[in-house]
Amino acid sequence: MTRESWGTRVGFILAAVGSAVGLGNLWRFPWMTAENGGSAFLVVYLGVVLLVGVPGLVAEFVIGRRSERNPAGALYRLSSGSKSWGAVGLFGVVTAIAMLSFYSVVGGWILRYFFASFTGSYFGSAGAYFDAIGFGLPAAGFHVAFLGVTALVVLGGVRDGIERATTLMMPAIVVLLVALAGWAVTRSGAGPGLSFYLDFDAAYLRANFLDVLGAAAGQALFTLSLGVGTMITYASYLGEDHDLAFDGSVIAVLNTAIGVLAGLVVFPLLFATVGGVSGAAAEGGPGALFVGLAGAFSELPLGRVLAVAFFGVVALAALSSAISILEIPVAYLVDEHGIERRTATGALAGLVLVTGSANALSPGLFTVVSGPLVDLMLTAGLVGFLLFVGWVLGSDALAEYSTGAGRYVRSVGPAWLWSVRTILPLFLLATLVANLLALAGVTF
Ligand code: TRP
Repeated sequence: MTRESWGTRVGFILAAVGSAVGLGNLWRFPWMTAENGGSAFLVVYLGVVLLVGVPGLVAEFVIGRRSERNPAGALYRLSSGSKSWGAVGLFGVVTAIAMLSFYSVVGGWILRYFFASFTGSYFGSAGAYFDAIGFGLPAAGFHVAFLGVTALVVLGGVRDGIERATTLMMPAIVVLLVALAGWAVTRSGAGPGLSFYLDFDAAYLRANFLDVLGAAAGQALFTLSLGVGTMITYASYLGEDHDLAFDGSVIAVLNTAIGVLAGLVVFPLLFATVGGVSGAAAEGGPGALFVGLAGAFSELPLGRVLAVAFFGVVALAALSSAISILEIPVAYLVDEHGIERRTATGALAGLVLVTGSANALSPGLFTVVSGPLVDLMLTAGLVGFLLFVGWVLGSDALAEYSTGAGRYVRSVGPAWLWSVRTILPLFLLATLVANLLALAGVTF
């Protein structure tokens, strides 16, 4: 049986952007920007995306395209059969299952809000509504529904499932977001929202530079879907020789633009309706989206229409990311164990049905898995991939990087390989240690 592949280059790019654009852009990025110095944070963030994110993305692409395998099979084969490197790849497969177990619960909330927006059920009692539906059996039910849709797309395969779905979803997301942002920034009262979001706070940046850097690094990894092997898996379906660094840059730019755009919807809306960011909305995370924004929609004349559009965008973004997470273990079972895609998808959906339901029933478990656990696993995973590319593949990695690359991209190849070997793993290890110490309650 020949291995599956993407139909077109645009299809691959849109699938990768679909993976990258998700909850990270729509609920994490705007709040992180606003809280960490506005456009001053953006400058730092862009630097991190350029110097850490894109090189990391390209490193995963190199592994994927060279091996044409899932992460576990890729590291095993490219190291000529090292069980330890295979285990590093397998760690990514396990991380993917852990991630989907919480991501799908959030996806379920979004699905529920999308439907509830038609009738406005949560209008008028946004806080109480979220408290009531966040955890418990109904939450598990919506998680299963979201997981079911995700599995249906993955079941369709690379070209007819993932590529087709994401090439439809991504343009829809952009059109809806641009329309929402255009509408939001022209509201009266939007001005203070924009300045809350984007005012350049240099003093804050100077006083908290290391914290800001750490926050930007964590966000860059999460939002670019790095450290799990999604980008290895997606690049493993590349038939032709694309310019990996160029495609990676396009993906990073589109991903950042969509995050910025999300902030242009969120903050003008909050300031124009409920007068600013306070209470649940100020804390970021679930409260910001499901309580803060949901409450804002109820203040608007066309609130239901806007809420349907907004939660529609969030649902599509979450779905295209969830697909990319599920595809990792599916590719693993198909490649390494010769299991049919159908069976593999069904078995994994069954597993995540259980692990996700555990998260939906237990807020304590959800909090640990969605926060520190996944953060640590992503960082550790990416360090493993980088060390592999830098020290095991070495000059082969450079050859793979250069295949299909233009002259300029080729000329920065050696600098890329050097940073993948040294600076990037060190930088990530430093953030890993800082995070662990913070978890243990040590403050600096
Ligand atoms: N990037 C997605 C987001 O911003 C989440 C995501 C999808 C992801 N696939 C991933 C994160 C793989 C890490 C690894 O919501």
